[in-house]
Amino acid sequence: MKQRTLVAVSAGLSQPSSTRLLADQLTAAAVTAAEAHDIALTVKVVELRDLAHDIANHLLTGFPPAALRQSLDDVAGADALIAVTPIFTASYSGLFKSFIDVLDKDALVDKPVLIAATAGTARHSLALEHALRPLFAYLRAVAVPTAVFAASDDWGADSADGTLRTRITRATAELAQELSRREPAKLTDPFALTTSFEDLLSR
Ligand SMILES: Cc1cc2nc3c(=O)[nH]c(=O)nc-3n(C[C@H](O)[C@H](O)[C@H](O)COP(=O)(O)O)c2cc1C
Repeated sequence: MKQRTLVAVSAGLSQPSSTRLLADQLTAAAVTAAEAHDIALTVKVVELRDLAHDIANHLLTGFPPAALRQSLDDVAGADALIAVTPIFTASYSGLFKSFIDVLDKDALVDKPVLIAATAGTARHSLALEHALRPLFAYLRAVAVPTAVFAASDDWGADSADGTLRTRITRATAELAQELSRREPAKLTDPFALTTSFEDLLSR
């Protein structure tokens, strides 16, 4: 079985968080979908609420504290990403965007990404298409065609068999398909020596 890593970024602020609930359902479905392609996924969740102060400090100082540095590296090194934000004022939340702002500009190039959102009303579901999808297109990520939106009504008793479940299954199948087409992600170390010690000494 091939080994791959999946990172889920969850930007919910409440505790408990419906955004985190959606992220967990998506990662569980992604693990199952990947198994169908003979891929074993290792999952990490980046909970942005826990990193909110670090993100603000990074924006102010230009340096990420250790926990944020680790999360940024996890995202950059992941084979696939699930990005889930609450909808605030008809768009992604400020915390979500601030995390994206401190990512390296090339961190998501050619990375399969499943975009998802939670909200109070289904009327704002197109925020995924007019806000999140263009953002990930700018970053040259590969956002899968199905985006997953969960409004308050989607968490009803029959949601397990309803539209939300159908979209989760379809979106994670698309993500697994993208994963199966790709070689493992490579992290490039910006401080790595590009010339051997022998070459340096012989100059
Ligand atoms: C500041 C703020 C702005 C919001 N704006 C919207 C909005 O424009 N449209 C909407 O449908 N829900 C809106 N909501 C509701 C949240 O999107 C919704 O409660 C979300 O699922 C919360 O996620 P969480 O439980 O993970 O914190 C807003 C909530 C807050 C706190």
